Amino acid sequence: MTKISALQRERANYQPKIPESIRGIVKLVEGEKTRSAANQDEIARLFPATYGLPIITFEKGTKKIDFPPVNVGVVLSGGQAPGGHNVISGLFDGIKAVHSRSRLYGFLGGPEGLMDHRYMELTAEIVDAYRNTGGFDIIGSGRTKLDETEQFDKSLEILKDLDITALVIIGGDDSNTNAAILAEYYAANKTGVQVIGCPKTIDGDLKNGMIEASFGFDTATKVYSGLIGNIQRDANSAKKYWHFIKLMGRSASHIALECALKTQPNITLISEEVADRNQTLDDIVEHMAAVIAARAEDGNNFGVALIPEGLIEYIPEMSILIRELNELLAEGSELEKEFKMLKKSRRNEWVASQLTKKSAKVFNSLPSGIRTQLTLDRDPHGNVQVSMIETEKLLGEMVKSKLQQMTRSGKYVGKFGIQYHFFGYEGRCAAPSNFDADYTYALGYTASGLIAHKKTGYMTSVRNLTAPSSEWITGGVPITMMMNVERRKAQQKPVIQKALVNLKGAPFKYFVSKRGEWAHGTHFVYPGPIQYFGPSSVCDIPTETLLLEKN
Ligand code: FBP
Repeated sequence: MTKISALQRERANYQPKIPESIRGIVKLVEGEKTRSAANQDEIARLFPATYGLPIITFEKGTKKIDFPPVNVGVVLSGGQAPGGHNVISGLFDGIKAVHSRSRLYGFLGGPEGLMDHRYMELTAEIVDAYRNTGGFDIIGSGRTKLDETEQFDKSLEILKDLDITALVIIGGDDSNTNAAILAEYYAANKTGVQVIGCPKTIDGDLKNGMIEASFGFDTATKVYSGLIGNIQRDANSAKKYWHFIKLMGRSASHIALECALKTQPNITLISEEVADRNQTLDDIVEHMAAVIAARAEDGNNFGVALIPEGLIEYIPEMSILIRELNELLAEGSELEKEFKMLKKSRRNEWVASQLTKKSAKVFNSLPSGIRTQLTLDRDPHGNVQVSMIETEKLLGEMVKSKLQQMTRSGKYVGKFGIQYHFFGYEGRCAAPSNFDADYTYALGYTASGLIAHKKTGYMTSVRNLTAPSSEWITGGVPITMMMNVERRKAQQKPVIQKALVNLKGAPFKYFVSKRGEWAHGTHFVYPGPIQYFGPSSVCDIPTETLLLEKN
């Protein structure tokens, strides 16, 4: 028998708290017709079969409806996020409640499994083994984009073979955009297959008026904040290191902001603010060095700085440099071939000679390790993989030399010892917090309601998340409602608007009101690890971001 941990054994018995609105007999209520977030005419033209649908909410009903059994397929798309297994458990329980002969099929390894017809039936025994666990390993995930007509047709073959009439795609903004395109295609072609999306991503950048949070953000930020708190306690005990911590989150800085609100470190950089203020790398380094020097004056040669993963893309001069590098080293180009033929020791010099004067200057100002990372680590499309760039080390090196300069001019009298960390994968598969366990189960269960009522092109929505879970509002939001037209890969495309940190929003404003105090004093908060058992005041708290946004 497979050995499982004591926590996993106990956690398997956890019963997610189900919102009242989807308990027992449920009634579907249709709201007003909707419009897309922007570019209404264009989105309406592109989505004739699924545009303008009404918002749906589920409420307690009195009249039981007898639905026929339904076969449902499910796909996990993109990076792992805590709670994915509970979306599947909720969906499984939900379709079984619709009809005991309903069946659930999981496509293996993400959208590719759907296109390649790799699947498994998810039976009660399989689903039970994964309840309340982290990870996506029940069926695996993948990053293949599902956006071509041939892919839709290929997928339809297996859906028809298995008599699947509804597909649930659990993913981030891009995957849900593709879910909307697929829903439209299947509806327009009268295939009889519904498509429902589900908001996933630890990055927290899939949210809007109707989707209050993407699942996984709560757990991941709790894991990182626990670790940051531990490091802060170590820093405050040893009093000899500055810890530079890079945090996952791709383009948006929601994770860094949430962790800052939870732990009150000395420095937190917010990429969106850097872009808004048009800050250079030097401005950032100067700011960090100034905080370090001010603390040193009080005898505090220690501290913690949080750095969002996507920072580098938001520094205008760096984003120009990255764009130039992407063009220069575009996969298969003559210049890329020339670059690859060069000896490694000559490559950086050659790259600088091919860039514009301004970018060459920026490139040459970077530590050599970072220069190499910028030219080597490329994704399958030939783009620099910004998440692979060790921004924390880049800033650390640059701050170190700035402090040396300041020492020479008598502006810094401290000692600077530095430790680097990157937190990302540590949190993506953690056992979901109570919040995420409940939220994801409710998302999955709600999806079954949308499926039973034959809805398509909707994203499952569970709202009112700062209230007790029994009061959560459940339903569906037409995905087209969240869309606008944006330039992607040199083309105008309909996409779900990505939610970056709102510089006018309450969480950022609160952070700004406090950051000076946190920088100079030591006001660390130590959240500790996620608690799964114990008082609700500890175990069920939503994120600071949600609490501030809702108030
Ligand atoms: P999603 O947007 O697919 O949810 O992925 C989130 C994320 O964890 C990012 O924060 C990170 O940049 C990226 O995935 C890392 O991807 P990979 O797992 O491919 O290394």
